[in-house]
Amino acid sequence: MSAILVLDDITVSFDGFKALDRLYLAVDEGELRCIIGPNGAGKTTMMDVVTGKTRPDKGKALFRQEVNLAMLSEAEIAREGIGRKFQKPTVFEQLSVMENLELALSGPRGILRALRFRPSPREKERMEEVLATVGLLESGERSAGELSHGQKQWLEIGMLLAQEPGILLLDEPVAGMTDAETAKTAELFRSLAGKHTLVVVEHDMDFVAALGGKVTVMAEGRVLSEGSLAEVQADERVIESYLGR
Ligand SMILES: Nc1ncnc2c1ncn2[C@@H]1O[C@H](COP(=O)(O)OP(=O)(O)O)[C@@H](O)[C@H]1O
Ligand SMILES: [Mg+2]
Repeated sequence: MSAILVLDDITVSFDGFKALDRLYLAVDEGELRCIIGPNGAGKTTMMDVVTGKTRPDKGKALFRQEVNLAMLSEAEIAREGIGRKFQKPTVFEQLSVMENLELALSGPRGILRALRFRPSPREKERMEEVLATVGLLESGERSAGELSHGQKQWLEIGMLLAQEPGILLLDEPVAGMTDAETAKTAELFRSLAGKHTLVVVEHDMDFVAALGGKVTVMAEGRVLSEGSLAEVQADERVIESYLGR
């Protein structure tokens, strides 16, 4: 397998404090990677570097081996096929589920143009496929405001999928979800892996276990340990600095 994303020797400093300290991280195409680690480890900063929100002081962020993300703007990175979901859902509550998806498909054209957007038959098919994937096929006409917290999160994931991203970055996607919603989300992510590459930051260890992918433990801006969940849980350095506490 080949790496779709390589962070090579990335350093990010804020007023002299190194949020990322010569970070090296490689993710293979189609992987479902979990990133765990204590608060302040640099997990969100790592995602900020990948999406262009934060510029590294040093190092390369290579997408598909050739594109250096550290040289691109946030919009250019999104167009390369890197989608990000923040913790708080940002769906348009007054619009229907389907209209939210249309917005996502129509891209950055402004909301008025997006509302006049007429999907082609191919795009309509694509939207229904996405709704089925995220378990909202029956809810297409409902207003997004009526959805449960978990359903809003799934809609937002659907909005990312509509743009057919190569990589999906998800920061604490199951925070605030019920156990049943969390279990469904794990199932959804496992079904997306392979077709997409997923990088998931999460604290919920049951969820991490349910995802079943490789786990990277970050601490103090670097990778502390990497392997299966069982492997990193057995790693002395991890027990000392994070899981054992
Ligand atoms: N914009 C910023 N300005 C100053 N310090 C920051 C900024 N963003 C993050 N940090 C610091 O960098 C460290 C890593 O933060 P973060 O990436 O949010 O960690 P995590 O997501 O693993 O909890 C923290 O100590 C945080 O306070
Ligand atoms: Mg964070």
